[in-house]
Amino acid sequence: MYLGLDLGTSGLRAILVDDAGAVQAEAEEGFDVAHPHPGWSEQNPADWVRACETTIARVKEAEPKAFAALRGIGLSGQMHGATLIDEDDAVLRPCILWNDTRSIEEAAALDATPGLRDITGNIVFPGFTAPKLAWVRAHEPEVFQKVAKVLLPKDYLRLWLTGAHISDMSDSAGTAWLDVGARDWSQAALDHGGMRRDQMPELVEGAAPGGTLRDALVSDWGLTGPVVVAGGAGDNAAAACGVGCLGEGRGFVSLGTSGVLMTGRDSYRPDPASAVHSFCHAVPDRWYQMGVILAATDSLNWLARNLGENPSDLSATLPDIATGPSSLTFLPYLSGERTPHNDSTIRGAFIGLDVAMERSDLTRAVMEGVAFALRDSLIALEGTGARFETLLAVGGGARSRFWLTTLANVLNLPLSLPKGSELGAAMGAARLAICAATGATPEEVMTPPDTAEVIEPRADLRDSYEAAYQRYTALYPALSRLG
Ligand code: XUL
Repeated sequence: MYLGLDLGTSGLRAILVDDAGAVQAEAEEGFDVAHPHPGWSEQNPADWVRACETTIARVKEAEPKAFAALRGIGLSGQMHGATLIDEDDAVLRPCILWNDTRSIEEAAALDATPGLRDITGNIVFPGFTAPKLAWVRAHEPEVFQKVAKVLLPKDYLRLWLTGAHISDMSDSAGTAWLDVGARDWSQAALDHGGMRRDQMPELVEGAAPGGTLRDALVSDWGLTGPVVVAGGAGDNAAAACGVGCLGEGRGFVSLGTSGVLMTGRDSYRPDPASAVHSFCHAVPDRWYQMGVILAATDSLNWLARNLGENPSDLSATLPDIATGPSSLTFLPYLSGERTPHNDSTIRGAFIGLDVAMERSDLTRAVMEGVAFALRDSLIALEGTGARFETLLAVGGGARSRFWLTTLANVLNLPLSLPKGSELGAAMGAARLAICAATGATPEEVMTPPDTAEVIEPRADLRDSYEAAYQRYTALYPALSRLG
């Protein structure tokens, strides 16, 4: 038996799977994000540990016999967060999360450092870890001075599970301290950020062992041990493992809080200028690239909140199938944008509001705007040589047929809907645990799911969606000039 633990932004999900990856039990526990100042986004690492204890207790209670046969644990986590710990492994301040924007200036300064993009393969976005430490150095020097290790969120959970300071390549690629091509910490990148190598955890591949469950937990949980903890992965790489997207041409589009269009790559082809993210994959000798938009379902949630509705009721105002673009255009830059604009200060807009329009028109425009933003990411990825014949569609927003049919038309690609519900990052984490504990190869374990349905783009609508996309792309420069 293997546990997949996905430490998300809003909660922790645990699944228990057997050797074949079939889910035996699952549990989820939420936690809050604190916003003590505008743009700040923090969590208390103790809440992660509590959520882990709660979910594991529930999994154990649901399937005590299966749980007792636990052999491996895989970790997936929200990326980029800075968990700062001192020499005694005590947490120095709340974790600064991936969606915290306080370090815009520090990120811009690091990003302008000659050679840094070449080492890390990426723009230094404000969400990444290195600028957060630069902010702490400038604003909380007494904390900075005591930092013995910087751990990503899932690696803090690993510290609690194993007592070891270890990270994996895919998550570490989002720090701006890793040489992403060489899969090792970069002394030059660390120097630019005023950090030391001894403050970094040891690195392992995601599918390799990365610690062993502490004896105290082995006995508390009633296990016979030993239990291997896999290197694990950042959530997007883990999700890719969950749906079998390892190499070229295998990609997914995810309508989550943020939107992601990702593909596995057999080689390292960074293109920072396009604002595409190029990170190590969770399996050896592979990388992945993704476009990230900051507000996908977050855009719909924002609209719902302001209309006093819930998002599923808003979705229900739309027909099942999209039959052509709207005359209303929505730019989903509610929190700025990463791909392709790398612009933390841009904000969203509705263009073309008409007195006859209703909440369904606004909903439709929001879904279309998110689809257009993902098309920007598709074009940016194609610019790096990635090619797609189809994409898997995942994430909460994929429950809306209208959104899916819109997205297929806007991307002009067939979208495959996977069969089965447990395919996300927790499944990817469990699959990494299977590899680490049994020595099975990722290719054997990380197979694609069966397809429930394919949503084809409609050829007769291609030109009208293309024209609407061209209208959309013309609006960013105009909006940015108003800035
Ligand atoms: C990726 C990113 C987000 C977080 C969300 O670069 O910032 O997808 O990983 O958990």
